[in-house]
Amino acid sequence: ISGARGESLQLGGIEAGCRQNVLLRSDFPDGFLFGASSSAFQVEGAVAEGGRGPSVWDTMSHTPGMIADNSTGDEVSDQYHHYLEDVELMADMGLDAYRFSISWSRIFPGGRVRVSPEGVAYYNRLIDALLARGIQPWVTLYHFDLPQALQDTLGGWLNPEIVSPFAEYAELCFTAFGDRVKHWVTFNEIHHVAFVFPNVGCRSTSGVCGDVNSQSYIIGHHMILSHAKAVNIYRTKFQKRHLGSIGIIIDVQWYEPISDLQEDIDAAERMMTFQMEWIMDPVVHGCYPALMRDLIQDRLPSFTEDEATALKGSFDFIGLNHYTAHYVKSDPNGPLFSRYGVETHDAQVAIFNSKKGVPIGPDAGSAWLQIVPWGIEKVLERFKVLYNNPLIFITENGVDEAEDPGVSLGSMLQDRVRVQFYHDYLTYVISALRNGSNIGGYFAWSLLDNFEWLDGLSKRFGLFYVDYKNGGKRLPKSSVAWFKQLLRNRDRSE
Ligand code: NOJ
Repeated sequence: ISGARGESLQLGGIEAGCRQNVLLRSDFPDGFLFGASSSAFQVEGAVAEGGRGPSVWDTMSHTPGMIADNSTGDEVSDQYHHYLEDVELMADMGLDAYRFSISWSRIFPGGRVRVSPEGVAYYNRLIDALLARGIQPWVTLYHFDLPQALQDTLGGWLNPEIVSPFAEYAELCFTAFGDRVKHWVTFNEIHHVAFVFPNVGCRSTSGVCGDVNSQSYIIGHHMILSHAKAVNIYRTKFQKRHLGSIGIIIDVQWYEPISDLQEDIDAAERMMTFQMEWIMDPVVHGCYPALMRDLIQDRLPSFTEDEATALKGSFDFIGLNHYTAHYVKSDPNGPLFSRYGVETHDAQVAIFNSKKGVPIGPDAGSAWLQIVPWGIEKVLERFKVLYNNPLIFITENGVDEAEDPGVSLGSMLQDRVRVQFYHDYLTYVISALRNGSNIGGYFAWSLLDNFEWLDGLSKRFGLFYVDYKNGGKRLPKSSVAWFKQLLRNRDRSE
């Protein structure tokens, strides 16, 4: 591999530049955790079982024209019924941990007040099955699927009153599962909810509900405050007794200046700030980055002194979701995001996948995903430098194939691109570790093919292929064997 730094890395006794698929467990520190990630709406199915109430993604996926292939979350990978089999698959691979999310509306079908005992029982069964096979449960409280009732009654994340129901839900989860779940995540990808999916839940066929330009910051603000509240509850009432840890997951892609011009270097910095420091500064320093304040001014909310105090240091670890890198050019009129009706010009950047006709990396199944392994090391280095080397778990990293009826099942299972992807990205993770980054573990996205939000079932991120037409049959892709080989000397220490 030669990355942006133009050097190749020596790993496992083999020159990685030769594109060999040999990485060794001993290339990682002792106790380094390997896991796979998922989220409730994307894998569970069984949306009308066990007393579950609807979430905004049920509404969204049942709104005609919203999902690329018209699929819904009704069945998807059906983990609700296959969870025992999935736990066996993970144990057989040698995974140390499984990151999944709890469906809020399975626990509180109406968003608050009335708890569904069947919902609690399902997660108890899943957690107990994981622990019985020596797999640590890592639980995300919120992965995009707000109970529809809270959207309808409160207007979702736009309303500051949402903080209380989230806190009640978090506390219920800590109480019910905290004796066995030692790793909690409050939110997955606030940035994504605020900028890519802000219109989910408002039943609009156009996909646009209002003045997104301001709303994204308000949505993010209420999520950040909800995070602080949940962490405070965990720390004051549970942490000592349960000896667990709590963090937040941030999605950070790498943004590379398209030229050496200072204005493009500054533009790439702005893009990084809008993804990373927007969330990191509040949880580390209790305030938003000055650069964003200058650009957004009073459309960016602010924290009271009490809120700032609650926010400062409100994490034990940071989860990093990372997939890709893009080139950035300064452009006062450039949209920060132009997908799904969300458009704001605040970062004053334009984003490209190639420079002078040369792509930044090969395309994956999704148009937004170019394979750029060196980007992950740059992101990890930025965390180290800007935030005093916090403990990081890479909570998502992976690549997809587009569903294609012309491709045989046999070829789909030979996922050479994914094997190379994991080899190459992990190579740069090892390099970051050697340069002193404090990285505790790595979770592949995803264990199974699943519901890829607006792309529905048309994109497959799984290590296991899911045959949706045959009762959700799981078939291992080649990458399963590759991980199994890497993990064969599993260190089960916690
Ligand atoms: C990040 C999200 O957390 C996850 O839900 C999604 O499927 C992956 N990215 C791939 O797009």
